[in-house]
Amino acid sequence: MQPPLDTLQRPLRDLRISVTDRCNFRCHYCMPAEIFGPGYAFLPKPEILTHEEIARSASAFSSLGVEKLRITGGEPLLRRGLSDLVAMLSEIPGHHDLAITTNGVLLGRHANSLKEAGLHRVTVSLDALSEEVFSKMNGVGASPDKVIAGVDAAISAGLGVKINCVVQKGVNEQEVLPLAEFARDRGVTLRFIEFMDTGNTNRWQLDQVVPSADLLEKLKSRFDLEASQSPLLGETAKRYQHVDQPEVEIGFISSVSQPFCRDCNRARLSADGQIFTCLFAEKGHDLKSLLRSGATDAQLADEVSRIWHRRSDRYSEIRAEGGERTKPEMSYIGG
Ligand code: GTP
Ligand code: 5AD
Ligand code: SF4
Ligand code: SF4
Repeated sequence: MQPPLDTLQRPLRDLRISVTDRCNFRCHYCMPAEIFGPGYAFLPKPEILTHEEIARSASAFSSLGVEKLRITGGEPLLRRGLSDLVAMLSEIPGHHDLAITTNGVLLGRHANSLKEAGLHRVTVSLDALSEEVFSKMNGVGASPDKVIAGVDAAISAGLGVKINCVVQKGVNEQEVLPLAEFARDRGVTLRFIEFMDTGNTNRWQLDQVVPSADLLEKLKSRFDLEASQSPLLGETAKRYQHVDQPEVEIGFISSVSQPFCRDCNRARLSADGQIFTCLFAEKGHDLKSLLRSGATDAQLADEVSRIWHRRSDRYSEIRAEGGERTKPEMSYIGG
């Protein structure tokens, strides 16, 4: 029996910042087109934090020990002036790991300016190389070519690159080996993510999840892989490396079959300034009102600290208990 979570130390180290709830894709596991159609009520502009408000919030988190800042969405490259925001975040005192998660379609256009602004790393979602499978999964008929061009532009710009692939049974399992070849050829890290029951609209079923253990077995039939030696605290992925090319890693993010809530050190800031202490939290905590009511930096940091210390989230550990729960959409709170 594991000890109750709220008695464990889970320092706040990682902040994910959603800069928009909009996206140019409609991946069915995240923003199903039948729900996120033309009539969907996205956040109105005045509700969305400005660059300055985001940078101030990130400073408050940083003063409490946050070391990693990840810009997400929706699709963050849809936000105007994103490089300016990256430059502002890169000036926050301290050595932050500064990363972005994107679907990659607009990356070819922006990779150089993001790098120049101070971005370190980019994670690109790519669920399939097959034109047919990819266009079906992204819900808008987009081809993988632009995403691949985005990956290559990011590599050329000198950004650290990872590829994320959400695997769904009966949908893209056959893409796993081709993607592993693709990532190995380019020398980039690939991570396979178990399909999760995020939000309330993606019709998740447990039997659509492909456990990471099954994927590892499949990959081992083609590649010689060994576990990487240095697990990092709070890391989402279990990492393996190619024996003959140890600089290239394959990771597994197994939040369904092997939850990692025990050392979860991630907070999320939605585009409209709500803090979520879990991807599956029923409610956010309003930081925007404080930001817009003249609070000092110290007051902002105190509020964040108070929220963090009261947290007892461990949704992935208790998922199997079931029960009704309203969960935030991932496109809203950020991947
Ligand atoms: P690195 O900083 O490169 O290690 O990446 P990361 O582990 O922070 O991963 P990334 O932001 O690319 O997240 C990958 C995916 O893992 C997300 O899109 C989610 O699907 C899942 N994930 C990330 N954080 C959490 C979390 O706190 N809880 C759960 N359940 N899943 C998460
Ligand atoms: N399950 C797992 N990962 C998801 N993502 C979005 N929705 C889901 C889901 N239902 C993650 C993927 C994608 C990132 C933007 O969000 O990792 O790459
Ligand atoms: Fe857009 Fe990413 Fe969600 Fe797909 S997973 S709909 S690319 S935010
Ligand atoms: Fe953290 Fe919640 Fe994910 Fe568990 S389910 S790892 S507490 S975000």
